[in-house]
Amino acid sequence: MTPQLISTVAELRSELDRRRALGHTIGLVPTMGYLHAGHGSLMQAAGETCDTVAASIYVNPLQFGAGEDLSSYPRDLQRDTEIAAGREVDILFVPTEEELHPLGPPLTEINVPSLASVWEGASRPTHFVGVATIVNTLLNIVGPCAAFFGEKDFQQLAIINRMVADLSLPVEIIGCPTVREPDGLAMSSRNSYLTRDEREAAAILRLALDAGEAVIKGGAREPQEVIRAMGAVVNGEPLAKLDYATVVDPATLEIPPVLMNDVRLLIAAQVGRTRLIDNCGVSIHGDPT
Ligand code: PAJ
Repeated sequence: MTPQLISTVAELRSELDRRRALGHTIGLVPTMGYLHAGHGSLMQAAGETCDTVAASIYVNPLQFGAGEDLSSYPRDLQRDTEIAAGREVDILFVPTEEELHPLGPPLTEINVPSLASVWEGASRPTHFVGVATIVNTLLNIVGPCAAFFGEKDFQQLAIINRMVADLSLPVEIIGCPTVREPDGLAMSSRNSYLTRDEREAAAILRLALDAGEAVIKGGAREPQEVIRAMGAVVNGEPLAKLDYATVVDPATLEIPPVLMNDVRLLIAAQVGRTRLIDNCGVSIHGDPT
């Protein structure tokens, strides 16, 4: 069924109130549009958990730095509507900037400094303030029981989890697994920027994560050993330029002195002019052999 297309906060709130009065639980899937199967998996997860699924499409200027791709970010509302319909989204909320921020760009910001300044934040210093601020706003507008985010953007998910806990926001955050192309490349709206050669080269991120995971499974417990293994794989691909490869504690995003329990491998690289990120979790059981 085609989702209800809603562009104003007032209409969205009254439609959600109507549904809540019928006893519906509401699930929210925030997106920036140009939807793909990764977004689709979040919508499907929301549909399996909640009675009403609302997805938002808003290319959030606050999370783009100067010189980033805000103006060229891909947009296709008709195609997005069809994809959302295929995942049984009930409401597609597509506000304008003026609708969300009638007083102009918000003066109030949400920052989660120690999680937002590292890794992606080191290359994109204002990015996560923009993300946390808009996600908080969307949660306040929709008031969902649960909101769905991809593990694909692992640092984003960690920051949102921490924001929700710190501010006691009444919502459950559900992290969903990364959906990948057949060669392992994580799906992303930005993959559409890649030339054919770059698209082939982009699979190197997943290969680097695999190499890091293999080193840990082989018994490595020293972070630098894993970091070197991942970096060496990316450096072997002439079209890719490594930004960072690291192994972190999934909650603090800090490199632990010794690898144990659950760790997260994070990687970012420039492929041509496109910056790509990926990550994977590794569970370590027992001592190194
Ligand atoms: P966007 O990049 O459109 O992603 C929307 C959601 O889809 C995010 O939770 C993201 O992690 C998830 N996602 C993207 N690619 C995925 C994949 N391959 N597999 C699984 N999930 C995937 O992330 C944003 O937008 C914005 O920062 C937003 C949270 C909407 C705030 O503006």
